[in-house]
Amino acid sequence: MQRARFVAALTGAGVSAESGLATFRDAQTGLWARFDPREIATPSAFARNPKLVWDWYAWRRERVGTVQPNAGHRALAELEARVPEFLLVTQNVDGLHQRAGSHSVVELHGNITRVKCSREGSIVERCVKCGAFLRPDVVWFEELLPADALSAAEDAARHCDLLLVAGTSAEVYPAAGLPMLAQERGATVVEINPNATALSSRADYVLRGPSGKILPALLDSVSDPRRES
Ligand code: OAD
Repeated sequence: MQRARFVAALTGAGVSAESGLATFRDAQTGLWARFDPREIATPSAFARNPKLVWDWYAWRRERVGTVQPNAGHRALAELEARVPEFLLVTQNVDGLHQRAGSHSVVELHGNITRVKCSREGSIVERCVKCGAFLRPDVVWFEELLPADALSAAEDAARHCDLLLVAGTSAEVYPAAGLPMLAQERGATVVEINPNATALSSRADYVLRGPSGKILPALLDSVSDPRRES
């Protein structure tokens, strides 16, 4: 951490767990254990029953509005200020990284607080142009990721010295391919997760525990350039 020039981070639902938001794949508590993604998170589900999809996202958006960023989010925001170059790539749609003060954030799967036209993709409150239904500006199953977000994330993976991978099961591609890309280009990959994941056996270091504890501890190992000299 102290030597790295460019630190990148890839985060998933687990970093928001300590804020009180459910993850997707944790047994019992995960959203996909309680809801079928094919019924609520695909373009065809939206075409079949837009109200059901809207109600589900409205419920999640309301949850997001009532929770606060946690110590893990805050540590990543502070880390950005301490290293020469930093990029945070997140699969989360909750906006908690930005609320914690992170500036360099790439949202691979969209943002639940925004909506976009379901036909043209322009981000507006209502589609005045074509009159199509508005929909949440999140990436659904069967959809491509926003091209600019993905290319910024791949670029960071190719050029970073250190990649922190926190709170993700590393099962959903293309995000899950970023740690491998970083390793191929010589970066050190550190997983932060209380549980074993698809990445664990390949990561250079595995730090077992909640991100709200581990990320602040990691931050302590990086001196603050603003306090030096
Ligand atoms: P998952 O639910 O698949 O994985 C959450 C991970 O967080 C698991 O590996 C947990 O062990 C870990 N975890 C739980 N509590 C934690 C804590 N306190 N600190 C750190 N880690 C913790 O969530 P994602 O990997 O984010 O996509 O899922 C990826 C994508 O799948 C999501 O963005 C979403 C979903 O379908 C879309 O909606 C497009």
